[in-house]
Amino acid sequence: MNQSALRQAWHPVCYGAELTDAPRAARLLGEPVVLWRDAAGAPRAMRDRCPHRGTALSLGKLQSGELVCPYHGWRFAADGRCTHIPQLEDPARVPERARVEAWRCVEKLGLVWVALEEPRWPLPELPEFSDPAWRVVRTGPFDWRAHASRQLENFTDFGHFAFVHEGLLGDPSNPVVAPHQVQTDGHVLRYAYGRPDQPNTEALPVFTQGERKDSLRRTHYAIHLPFTLVEHIDWGGADGMVYLFASQPVDEARSIGYCQVARNYQHEQPESMMRDFERTIFEQDRRIIESQPVGPVPLDGASELHLAFDKVALAYRRALREQGFGGAS
Ligand code: FES
Ligand SMILES: [Fe+2]
Repeated sequence: MNQSALRQAWHPVCYGAELTDAPRAARLLGEPVVLWRDAAGAPRAMRDRCPHRGTALSLGKLQSGELVCPYHGWRFAADGRCTHIPQLEDPARVPERARVEAWRCVEKLGLVWVALEEPRWPLPELPEFSDPAWRVVRTGPFDWRAHASRQLENFTDFGHFAFVHEGLLGDPSNPVVAPHQVQTDGHVLRYAYGRPDQPNTEALPVFTQGERKDSLRRTHYAIHLPFTLVEHIDWGGADGMVYLFASQPVDEARSIGYCQVARNYQHEQPESMMRDFERTIFEQDRRIIESQPVGPVPLDGASELHLAFDKVALAYRRALREQGFGGAS
């Protein structure tokens, strides 16, 4: 995939709840990233590599708002500037070249996001995530030996429910994919799908037991290129679910999926139930997706066999191509 297009987008790097003032390491598009929360509570990101000898700054510590390299104690301000070299007679006489690249970093929708270059698009808006009538459960993260485009696409795939998630999300006696339309609007792909609802399992009843008009699960999807997806689910009544799934492109061969689920019902249910449910689902998917060829979904249109019901997969590939994600550079 085109690296500069990928660098011009927000990607998740951890859940906000996991970030403290202790530096932590992440990896994004092959770049080593150090993350921390500054004194004002804002998330910060820069390259996890000291310019002196290449040591990981994430092994260091935060002191008076500055990141201190664990090897020789050089100090770096949050903008990447080196401010102090203890080995010098005058530690403040820092050469201009002693700096680390700092990256844009924001916290939104429960996640910390980094863009390595000016992002072309904003993050999605999700009012349910700040509405007290809705309760959000963080699940995962799901660390897969697969490209983020594969992980994202798996979340959008209708044809596999009956085979991979029998009893939980699908029914093998009902595998037909109903007709649906995809509407592409720049970097956002929208589509709706109504499918027969699988009854709750006894062990993990995460779907509504409240008002249902009929046995249909109504879903509305929005894929935000490249690897973020919002799914709204309802059953024709007031009860609803909102999924926010975003995949971190670690490198060509690895991704980490963050899946948050908001519900306006069953708030009394322990959060562990939703987490257990998603862990089961994602584990069923993981072995399938990890068996696919390494690297991104092919954008050439020739190396896979798509049929008419693969509309979403086709539209996803086309939109990625049209938005400049094709090619290698
Ligand atoms: S390697 Fe970081 S200060 Fe020497
Ligand atoms: Fe799945």
